[in-house]
Amino acid sequence: MRALVDEFSALARFPASRPQLASLNQLVEGALVMFNGRLEGIRVRTELAQDLPSVMADPEAIKRAVANLVDNAAEAMEDAMLKEITISTSLVVSRDAVELAVSDTGQGVSRDLKERLFLPYFSTKQRGTGLGLAIVSRIVEDHRGSIRVEENKPVGSRFVIELPVAVEAVSA
Ligand SMILES: Nc1ncnc2c1ncn2[C@@H]1O[C@H](COP(=O)(O)OP(=O)(O)OP(=O)(O)O)[C@@H](O)[C@H]1O
Ligand SMILES: [Mg+2]
Repeated sequence: MRALVDEFSALARFPASRPQLASLNQLVEGALVMFNGRLEGIRVRTELAQDLPSVMADPEAIKRAVANLVDNAAEAMEDAMLKEITISTSLVVSRDAVELAVSDTGQGVSRDLKERLFLPYFSTKQRGTGLGLAIVSRIVEDHRGSIRVEENKPVGSRFVIELPVAVEAVSA
């Protein structure tokens, strides 16, 4: 999978991440600005935890990751009555990590698809490349983080990225 994504990356000149000391909340706010006016009919909420420690993050890469997740969330809610995206951040004390979650009220992800979503070229959409989540995975990997998908309550899905707290912030 890595090889496939790398192949695509080379083609599209998708740059490798260059993490720097950053505030995840600021990156989220920055990513949201890109969506101004593009999420018609969708309510977007943020629940950003205060006093989060810094992470090592490449601002452009993290914004790209959030954008890909929000695009998917919006597409998953096309036929939904309730259209709501929640972007939240929080501290995961047990793992010295900071969590970024994008939740939607869309169709959700079935159990058997769960494992395949992150593979390059896996798509259930007529015109999907299936690279959106593969790129997110690659970015998360570049940051030594993790990504998973869960059920959102009461409906929809929730994509959760964890990034390690920056060493500077852990020792502080
Ligand atoms: N929020 C979501 N809710 C439900 N299913 C999702 C969600 N996000 C992704 N998926 C599923 O995962 C598949 C892969 O997503 P991915 O972003 O990699 O590709 P895509 O969205 O199909 O294509 P592209 O990103 O190129 O538009 C989607 O086709 C869809 O089936
Ligand atoms: Mg996508």
